[in-house]
Amino acid sequence: MTEMIHVHDKCFVPYLSAERIIEKVKVLAAQINTEYKGRRPLFISILNGSFMFSSDLFKLITIEAEICFIKLASYKGTRSSGQVITAIGLDTDLKGRDIIVLEDIIDTGKTITQFLPQVYNQQPSSLKIAVLLHKPAATVYPVKIDYTCFTIPDKFVVGYGLDYNGLGRNLAQLYQVKEDLLLEK
Ligand code: IMP
Ligand code: MG
Repeated sequence: MTEMIHVHDKCFVPYLSAERIIEKVKVLAAQINTEYKGRRPLFISILNGSFMFSSDLFKLITIEAEICFIKLASYKGTRSSGQVITAIGLDTDLKGRDIIVLEDIIDTGKTITQFLPQVYNQQPSSLKIAVLLHKPAATVYPVKIDYTCFTIPDKFVVGYGLDYNGLGRNLAQLYQVKEDLLLEK
């Protein structure tokens, strides 16, 4: 098994392997390929955190599909700052489209809740949300999630696109914080 790692001042332990992640992503892709056949869905990937999930998923989509990216941010350190900023907005016409929003993780639910009106306002013909991770114990804004790869406890994770203050996105698997182990500075 892979060893414990350090990111900034925290220790993290291996949590979900790259193999387990891709297995779930494959199941999700197969479901979308079946449900959206002939509909040319438009994926909206929320940057930064979902870039790896979106890339792996999109490679497994075998039907006609499009993808675009928006950039939202609400996090500072290991707790949501509460403020959601749109750093790069939508540049694609969503009217009449079948939209699938791709998010790395739903934590409090604030980011996705604040973003969804931007989609609704453009009158898409359908809207679904696909997430890699959901932390139900941390979710305070109720969100209807259509596809969830993993339901996880309210513990901070890094890797597979998710960061801790900018670091850890490049890790191929997911790591979970080991809260009792804080590094001496
Ligand atoms: P929410 O607005 O509280 O749902 O937070 C969603 C955003 O916070 C996600 O898009 C992630 O970028 C970030 N986030 C939430 N939980 C974690 C975590 O455990 N690790 C890394 N980033 C996280
Ligand atoms: Mg983030």
